[in-house]
Amino acid sequence: MKKLLVLSVFLLAGLMVLSASGKLEIFSWWTAGGEEDALFALYDVFHENYPDVEIINATVAGGAGTNAKAVLKTRMLGGNPPDSFQVHAGAELNDTYVVTGLMEPITPFLKEWGIMDKFPKDVLDICSYEGEVYSVPVNIHRGNVMFYSKEIIEDVGIETIPTTWPEFIDALKKIEDAGYIPLSLGDKNKWTATHLFESVLLGLLGPYQYNGLWDGRVSFENEGVKKALEVFKELMNYVNEDHSALAWQDATRLLYEKQAAFNVMGDWAEGYLKTLGWKPEENFGWMALPSTRGSFMIVSDTFGLPKNAPNRSNAIRWLKVISSVEGQDAFNPIKGSIPARIDANPELYDVYLRWSMEDFKTNALCPSIAHGSAAPEAFATALNDIINRFIATGNVDEAWNSIIEAAEENL
Ligand code: GAL
Repeated sequence: MKKLLVLSVFLLAGLMVLSASGKLEIFSWWTAGGEEDALFALYDVFHENYPDVEIINATVAGGAGTNAKAVLKTRMLGGNPPDSFQVHAGAELNDTYVVTGLMEPITPFLKEWGIMDKFPKDVLDICSYEGEVYSVPVNIHRGNVMFYSKEIIEDVGIETIPTTWPEFIDALKKIEDAGYIPLSLGDKNKWTATHLFESVLLGLLGPYQYNGLWDGRVSFENEGVKKALEVFKELMNYVNEDHSALAWQDATRLLYEKQAAFNVMGDWAEGYLKTLGWKPEENFGWMALPSTRGSFMIVSDTFGLPKNAPNRSNAIRWLKVISSVEGQDAFNPIKGSIPARIDANPELYDVYLRWSMEDFKTNALCPSIAHGSAAPEAFATALNDIINRFIATGNVDEAWNSIIEAAEENL
């Protein structure tokens, strides 16, 4: 009798898997090298589990969601949600979609799958609102990191990788004298300059004060903000002339093409460099931005469940796959990110990613502005405009005052 019961439970479970059919629309901005490959690896895992579900890959190109976020908002507000969508943990999800009542809490599913304790509490906290979890993190990217061409660094004769701003500026001068682009930037889309600025800011304020900007402990009138603008201005003397015509991956590619020595970018650049055939430690090295050792600027991509998702059951299956060890270990080694799950298999990750895993465990975690976690979108957009104008004018006081005003209005 017991055997019969067990058999029928198995048969039922099997039937449920087999009967999964229909469509699943996944919305993201992952179209660049590394990003797209990683997304497809995740689709493969989904298909292994649910072969009869057809995935609609709804992507809108543009790094950091430059174009995708606006399209998504129109769809969500117009009652036409995708089944699930890429969104940064924190303000980007909560302010826009959770407080407005457009998302379903997913806490019951995470409990049912027994995975509430399989993510760092800090990370799950940023995915939550008023005690309910609203999205599940598929990865953890690091923002305050820079990559460098080992060949150029050796050519120029830089023996120790700089850890302070003055040492770093000296290195940039040496590289320039040797005829290379010292620091590559591609700010065709404004966020990449903000991305650089926020890491400089983190270095000058330190993690405790930087995090204080978001809970009201620290004001933007803090001198560290002005100093960050000054360092940023100095760095702009060493970037490629065509920076405003390039996207983030074009700037990263300048390393591979032996034109530029350093590139500041989140570690999706690591995923991208690997698609070009480069290997960590062999072809490229990395370091936390000067003065930011011990801090980890966290950028986490998550997915949730919009209310009225057209294919709700498949959306829940998607969340189950991306939150599984199998899903995370298929996605992250390609994406250039570390798994959000604490029980993933480190053996599958390269030397850069294992370095990042170690730092993530021990460093102070700091949310990114450019990638939606620290502050409401209105502040991030204002900062993008201010930094963009600042690159043209170089007027530190004007930029500082504008940042203070933007903070007063939007935080
Ligand atoms: C970030 C996102 C990353 C990566 C990057 C460039 O905002 O979190 O996963 O895709 O944009 O597009």
